[in-house]
Amino acid sequence: MRGRLITIEGIEGVGKSTNMAFIQSILDARGIPSLMTREPGGTGLGESIRKLLLNKEQQGMGALTELLLMFASRAQHVEQVIEPGLAGGKWVICDRFTDSSYAYQGGGRGLPLELIARMEALVLKDFCPDCTFILDLPVETGLSRAENVGAKDRFESEHTDFFKRVREVFIARGKSEARCHIINADQTLEKVQSEILSVLTALLDAD
Ligand code: TYD
Repeated sequence: MRGRLITIEGIEGVGKSTNMAFIQSILDARGIPSLMTREPGGTGLGESIRKLLLNKEQQGMGALTELLLMFASRAQHVEQVIEPGLAGGKWVICDRFTDSSYAYQGGGRGLPLELIARMEALVLKDFCPDCTFILDLPVETGLSRAENVGAKDRFESEHTDFFKRVREVFIARGKSEARCHIINADQTLEKVQSEILSVLTALLDAD
């Protein structure tokens, strides 16, 4: 049976990694094979693109170039890793996907969301995640959590207003797309995970 694609989204510092590991542990407990991957990246080529995108020396990168690189990484990722994984019956847990392009390149950088929708249709056709968790936190809380973790990359160096615009688009998508579930990440990990578990259980039981 074909696997499912689960994506995890949110601004910096919302706890994506911890919750991805949690999701994988739930799947493990049910004996469902899964793989964890990330964007930008997830393939050799994608990881090289990621280095370009995150490199703080690339200050002059235009918003459209940034969007194209995100989708170049994604095209390779879907073809080489995600689609074969799903076809082989694996559940794929992906750290960020197209919703991040809407939020960061659309909300953050100001590219028209309509343009991103056209790019999505061109690159992915009707391929899209089965379930998306949008972990949500006030920007100030997320940024102060993220601050403790090493040197800042090109995105992490952005200002609070940038992340506020990113968050707004995540929330809007969370409300408008049925596959999206907004999880309040500003509560105990136990509560966050119990909300994730109930969404995941419904998805598992639907199979
Ligand atoms: P990630 O490794 O998830 O960063 P973090 O753990 O700091 O949240 O993602 C790298 C950066 O790439 C992140 O700042 C968001 C950005 N990004 C986009 O701007 N657009 C996209 O489509 C994707 C997938 C990521």
